[in-house]
Amino acid sequence: MSDVQAAPHGRGTGIPYPFDIRPLTDTGGAEITGLDLAAPLDDGMRDAIMRAFLEFHILVFRGQSLTKDQQAVFSKNFGELEHHVGRLPDGSPYPIVHTVTNLDEDGKPTPGAVALGNYFFHTDKSYHDIPSLMTMLHAIELPPSGGDTQFANTQMAYDALSPEMKARISGLKAEHSWEASRRNSGAPPATEEQKRERPPVVHPIVRTHPDTGRKSIYLGNHVSHILGLPAAESDALIAQLMEHVGQPQFTYTHQWRDGDYVMWDNRCLLHRALRNYEMATQRRVLHRTVIIGTAPY
Ligand code: OGA
Ligand code: MN
Repeated sequence: MSDVQAAPHGRGTGIPYPFDIRPLTDTGGAEITGLDLAAPLDDGMRDAIMRAFLEFHILVFRGQSLTKDQQAVFSKNFGELEHHVGRLPDGSPYPIVHTVTNLDEDGKPTPGAVALGNYFFHTDKSYHDIPSLMTMLHAIELPPSGGDTQFANTQMAYDALSPEMKARISGLKAEHSWEASRRNSGAPPATEEQKRERPPVVHPIVRTHPDTGRKSIYLGNHVSHILGLPAAESDALIAQLMEHVGQPQFTYTHQWRDGDYVMWDNRCLLHRALRNYEMATQRRVLHRTVIIGTAPY
C-alpha cells in the first residue's frame, strides 16, 4: 500500500493507491514499484493506474519485463492502439508495437538518422485530427548512461503565462502536419503518399484537458503555423511559447533504468529524446505503443 495520500501539488484525489507510488518531481512523474504489468489487470487496478496517470502525467513502472505481445495486451486496457505513418527502412509500416531505436537497418548504432522528429519537443500524433492520449515505452536495451527522455508540463507552462499572453493566444489555432514535422526536424521530406495519408489538421493552441479541465499550451514540432497571423509573427509566437514551455522549471528528464515501463499523457505534456549518449556506438532500444485519444478543444 502506498503512503501517498495526496501529492504536494494537490492535484490528486487523496484516495490511497493500491500500489507503491512515489512522486518524482513537482512537474510530474511518479515511480510505481511492485506491480507486474505482464499479469492480467483487473478493473480496480486499471482505474487506480488511470487515476495516478491523471495526477502525475508520467508513470514510471520499475522492474518490468514484457514481450511485445504482453505490451499490446497491457496497453489495450487504456484504449485503442494507434497505427503509425512512419515506415521501416524496407518501406513497410511500423507494426502496432514498434521499436524506438538508434539502430540502423543492419542493427548498428547510428548517430541520429532514425526518427529525427523525436529529438524536438512534440506531442505524439498531433498531426492527426484525433491525436494520441497516451504513449508507452518499455526499455529493452539502454546505453550505460544518458539516452534520456525529457518531458515539459504544458499545463504548468500555460498557468505561468502573463494574463496578456493568455488573452493573446486564447482562440488561436495552429496547423499541424506530418509534412511540417519532417521539415521542422530536418528529416527527409514527407512522400506524396504520406502527405495524402496524413493531410494537415488544425488544433487550438490552448488545449483543455478532457479529464481534468486544465488548460495547456498545445504546440510542438508537428506545427506548421498559427492560422490568421503573418508568417513572421506566427513563427515568432511559436518560438516564444516553445522557449517558455521548455524552461527547466516545467521539465522532468527521465533517466531510463533497465526494466522501466513509462506511460505519459500526450494531452498535457511535450516530450523529446535527448542526444546525451554515444549514439554512434551505444545501443538504445525501446518498445512503443500509443493509445488513441480524443479531438482537442
Ligand atoms: C516517442 C518518443 C522519445 C524517446 O516514442 O514518442 O518521442 O526518448 N520517444 O525515445
Ligand atoms: Mn514522441
